[in-house]
Amino acid sequence: ARADKAGHKHFMAKEISEQPGVIGEAVSHYVAADNTISLPDPGLDFTKFDRITMVACGTAYYACLTAKYWFEQIARLPVEVDFASEFRYREPPIPGRTLAMFVSQSGETADTLAALRYCEGKADKIASVVNVIESTIARESDLALPIHAGVEIGVASTKAFTCQLTVLFLMTLKAALDRGTITQDQLADHISALRSMPSLINIALEQNAAIRDAAQKLSPARDVLFLGRGAMFPLALEGALKLKEISYIHAEAYASGELKHGPIALIDENVPVVVMAPRDRLFDKTVSNMQEVMARKGKVILISDRAGLEEAAEGTWAQIEMPPVADALTPILYAIPAQLLAYHTAIAKGTDVDQPRNLAKSVTVE
Ligand code: G6P
Repeated sequence: ARADKAGHKHFMAKEISEQPGVIGEAVSHYVAADNTISLPDPGLDFTKFDRITMVACGTAYYACLTAKYWFEQIARLPVEVDFASEFRYREPPIPGRTLAMFVSQSGETADTLAALRYCEGKADKIASVVNVIESTIARESDLALPIHAGVEIGVASTKAFTCQLTVLFLMTLKAALDRGTITQDQLADHISALRSMPSLINIALEQNAAIRDAAQKLSPARDVLFLGRGAMFPLALEGALKLKEISYIHAEAYASGELKHGPIALIDENVPVVVMAPRDRLFDKTVSNMQEVMARKGKVILISDRAGLEEAAEGTWAQIEMPPVADALTPILYAIPAQLLAYHTAIAKGTDVDQPRNLAKSVTVE
């Protein structure tokens, strides 16, 4: 059954608000009370792979980029990530002991499907992470992992993104266990952090008014820059994508450390800069990049936790406070302000939030 807006003005708002529930669902589908992680196919044994190749388009591609940080840091498994449209025509060599993974909300994206077919008979195993379990990509995979997000109607993906991240994080934990890179105690810590995500996301959603105020300030801008380091870099990319998709403001994202290699030339009082910086081990480095922006009169919207804001908010243009969260899970939590910032900017501009011009929910032709 196709969902209605359940009292929300837009499907996007409804889908943003559903995230605590669907993420909780996704976790309970994969994790038992005793913390064992069960993937649909017991045959997905990560000791059999030396690398993962992840392929996707759009928001799903940014979920893959985020997962690269997890798989490499937590499971010590090298990951390559590519756009499906590039991968399929580059025809890359696929070495032995490769797990090929395809992430797609719809499971019908033409380029992603073509990339999957290219891997048939070459990769050791083909796994997909999909929302639509009856989809072509799911059917043609050796193993399909549902994300349990429920029907997503807004063209700009929101709950599917955070559910993709949730399932990819669980796959990372399974890989880390198989490969012996985490202990049972560390696993238990990660899982309890994951189980607290729904309540943390509820706290993030309560920042709606502060995010709306920041969006009001942002809405006259012609260009916006997003900055983040580590796993906040793919989140910055996703934040910029959301903003351009629905508000039509030109937005781009940079890894904070690349600021001085180009985008700093663009900074003046007309370019708002959204800095996504939880107070983690990379915080000080991101803050020093942020100060370079402010020294050139750039207007900074800082998204951080209380400790981070206390330390670095001085001189910023707007602040958005997130609750403290386990370092590994910052990408899931910080997706919420990225989504709401785009949503409220689009509302301020009066654009069509659920059906942005020129975009389709599912791109089934090349
Ligand atoms: C379109 C949608 C995006 C989506 C992308 C990939 O561009 O507008 O929201 O991220 O396709 O779609 P998929 O269904 O493969 O995740």
